[in-house]
Amino acid sequence: MNINERFNLSGRAALVTGSSRGIGRAIALGLAECGAAVAVHGTKPAKALDETLAEVRRLSPRSVAVIGDLSNPDVPARIVADAAAAFGALDILVVNASIQIRKPWGEVTQEEAEQQMQVNFHATWRMIQAAVPAMRAKKWGRILTIGSVQQQRPHPDMVVYAASKSAQENLVRNLAKQLGPDGITVNNLAPGVILTDRNTAALSDETYAARVRGMIPSRAFGEAEDCVGAALLMCSDAGRYITGVDLLVDGGMHL
Ligand SMILES: NC(=O)c1ccc[n+]([C@@H]2O[C@H](COP(=O)([O-])OP(=O)(O)OC[C@H]3O[C@@H](n4cnc5c(N)ncnc54)[C@H](OP(=O)(O)O)[C@@H]3O)[C@@H](O)[C@H]2O)c1
Repeated sequence: MNINERFNLSGRAALVTGSSRGIGRAIALGLAECGAAVAVHGTKPAKALDETLAEVRRLSPRSVAVIGDLSNPDVPARIVADAAAAFGALDILVVNASIQIRKPWGEVTQEEAEQQMQVNFHATWRMIQAAVPAMRAKKWGRILTIGSVQQQRPHPDMVVYAASKSAQENLVRNLAKQLGPDGITVNNLAPGVILTDRNTAALSDETYAARVRGMIPSRAFGEAEDCVGAALLMCSDAGRYITGVDLLVDGGMHL
């Protein structure tokens, strides 16, 4: 196989959760550029989702959109089924959507904690449960979860979010061992500070932004596109011997 063939995803079908915007959108576009049919996803019908689907379809015309709020426990398995129904079967699952509630840990309510654990952790294993049988049948599958540098450097105002990402990364290592014999890799990509909608407000405070930048050895925030190369590696044949890995894309912030 030459290098282009190793990254070629023609004939593969992918679901990327939370791909209406941000990192998920960039990964969906990358997968489509490599030839995969992609199910993009958002919580509800929205202009951003329509625009992302249109761009993804320019690269990969069979792509579709699926919709659902992952805080509803019925939704994770249903969106996997919707995407699989559109393509026949799913080969690649990128678990990217998450929610993040910023507040001092002593003020977090039970409901806020449960909501973050549902979307960031419970939905993850439910989607993997739903996606694995078809991957097993093909003896080929790629599961990529999107974690966070907060697995290693938890933010004081995001205790539950940070813990949910660590739980997800533990799940990845556990399942990588169990699914390896079926030709399925399971990995985690952990971004550092990436400029997306979720941190625009916080980083608009220049003093805070300068303090955070000072914690990053490369002294820069990342762009969503900075996550794409690592994601493509772990979603293609190029990464077939990589499993159970936590790959940080963070300018060294974890150090
Ligand atoms: N940005 C960073 O600095 C950073 C750092 C570390 C880790 N991460 C992780 O990277 C991933 C992507 O982050 P991002 O910054 O690109 O996110 P973002 O720009 O805030 O986009 C969030 C995406 O998730 C979807 N989403 C939000 N709540 C959802 C729910 N309840 N059910 C289903 N989908 C939901 C959104 O859909 P709608 O458009 O419909 O709302 C949107 O597509 C997340 O897992 C995040 O934890 C990000």
